[in-house]
Amino acid sequence: MIQKIKKISLTMFAAAGVLVGASNIAVAAGGDVPQPPKNDWAHVGPFGKFDKAALQRGFQVYKEVCASCHSLDLVAMRTLSDLGYNEDEVKAIAKEYDVMDGPNDDGEMFSRPGRPSDYFPAPFANDQEARAANGGALPPDLSLIAKAREHLSLFRPWKSQYGEDYLVALLTGYDDAPEGFELGEGMSYNTYFAGHQIAMAAPLSEDQVEYADGTPATVKQMSKDVATFLYWASEPKMEARKELGFKVLAFLLILSILLYFTNKKIWADVKGK
Ligand code: HEC
Repeated sequence: MIQKIKKISLTMFAAAGVLVGASNIAVAAGGDVPQPPKNDWAHVGPFGKFDKAALQRGFQVYKEVCASCHSLDLVAMRTLSDLGYNEDEVKAIAKEYDVMDGPNDDGEMFSRPGRPSDYFPAPFANDQEARAANGGALPPDLSLIAKAREHLSLFRPWKSQYGEDYLVALLTGYDDAPEGFELGEGMSYNTYFAGHQIAMAAPLSEDQVEYADGTPATVKQMSKDVATFLYWASEPKMEARKELGFKVLAFLLILSILLYFTNKKIWADVKGK
């Protein structure tokens, strides 16, 4: 019997070792880039909620800087009400965009001012045009980028990385290429991009936008704000998800207590006093 337990625990130990090893390989596949520094996020943690002011500032950065190259295909403008805008403000924002619609009765496509029900129009007609304008590189759609660059490691939680932290690191990680590093034409050196060569020139510089709420627009501030906005874009229903989670836990707790007393009562006669 003891022999058997020993054998089982050894097998489990070995299996755990293989899994931890596998998670190491997954991390190593990210290349020789350093771990992005962690930031304080209002939306992280079981009680985390979105910082609406940061979301609005981040949207401003996306709109004024990133939107000239990056699409946001999966985000409908009506959802901007999550950022704290009222209905009229959302309508006004939508109106700023020209949206392709049609065909009309003559079979032609036409352009009209945007409506809240529209999705954000893409800056380029297709991937080829996007590549042609960016030296052959394709600026990825940013709808899910915060989730796409997330890395959660169950076995080495300290190696976990939020996509938001990576975005901040990427946007603030531009630097001169170190001695002896061959940088391709039109490429920029970035500490946190896999391979260190990125076809996106540093998009942010000090005071690039003028924040409506007077927050100083440092590169770090704009990066954090746009990362918050992009995290929201990738998981707009985060607050509802956390709330539901708490309700489920509360339900299970109450159910467990009831079951405990029911069980006691049912067996009371059998077990005696
Ligand atoms: C002038 C065009 C341009 C602008 C403006 C621009 N980008 Fe990019 N971006 C690119 C291109 C091109 C790539 C692809 C780079 C590559 O693959 O080497 C890219 C890649 C990225 C990536 C993917 C990095 C990865 O890990 O794969 C992110 C994230 C990103 N950009 C975010 C932003 C944000 C946020 C802004 C606004 C602050 C912005 N970009 C502004 C052109 C742009």
